[in-house]
Amino acid sequence: MATWRRGGGPRARSLGSRRPPLLPPAPDSPLGERGFRGHVVRAQRFRFSEEPGPGAEGAVLEVHVPQVLHLQYGMYVWPCAVVLAQYLWFHRRSLPGKAVLEIGGGVSLPGIMAAKCGAEVILSDSSELPHCLEVCRQSCQMNNLPRVRIIGLTWGHMSQELLALPPQDILLASDVFFEPEDFEDILTTVYFLMQKNPKVQLWSTYQVRSADWSLEALLYKWDMKCVHIPLESFDADKENIAESALPGRHTVEMLVISFAKDSL
Ligand SMILES: C[S@@+](CC[C@H](N)C(=O)[O-])C[C@H]1O[C@@H](n2cnc3c(N)ncnc32)[C@H](O)[C@@H]1O
Repeated sequence: MATWRRGGGPRARSLGSRRPPLLPPAPDSPLGERGFRGHVVRAQRFRFSEEPGPGAEGAVLEVHVPQVLHLQYGMYVWPCAVVLAQYLWFHRRSLPGKAVLEIGGGVSLPGIMAAKCGAEVILSDSSELPHCLEVCRQSCQMNNLPRVRIIGLTWGHMSQELLALPPQDILLASDVFFEPEDFEDILTTVYFLMQKNPKVQLWSTYQVRSADWSLEALLYKWDMKCVHIPLESFDADKENIAESALPGRHTVEMLVISFAKDSL
């Protein structure tokens, strides 16, 4: 399939040459095991909560997601996903009725959180990775979310699925900025969705694995701006989040990216 690049022609791409990010995490609170096309699956629980206030119990929300022992790195939760889900939890009151699309979702913990908080959610992963789309489906089943749509969406591809999408309010992207050669493909997809709704925001977490990588020049090229959200502002500056040790000491950053001409 052809990919779409601003100011350039289509180029062929292959997922076979992908280098997985460093350090696949181990599940840390298994609930049980089920089959997934012959692979071992562990259901992992994340329990998001807020501090009880005076005279009131704090809100609590549990999300269960599959973790599959598989080579595809969309088959288990990454530290970035827990941080992004915590950001959604912190902003849960703004989510009901919002159109939310998660890209490169894999297990899709953030998208599941958004759906549980009342957003109209579409989950996606590469159309070339059916196992990852299947794990999105399994996440929805585990959380009893039959209305969540799942689509194949490969970054940079002008596919029918992308063209047919309704305008979105929020795009979620957890740990998708790990391979610099993909950055522009991701931003072309985001740019296309910004054309449908110039007010759409990309809420994204990325894990700092190399000091050399930067998005700044690409954001400028694509007329986008970026605000870094301090982790402490949404209670994510901890090694344990949602009763999971997964964030650990990984350096994760939270970004809100929007159209440069829109005021954030
Ligand atoms: C490091 S994993 C992160 C998974 C999940 N978002 C998380 O944080 O737990 C990267 C995800 O990007 C997906 N992906 C990789 N290449 C892609 C592409 N070209 N288009 C769309 N998704 C892709 C993978 O299948 C995988 O789900």
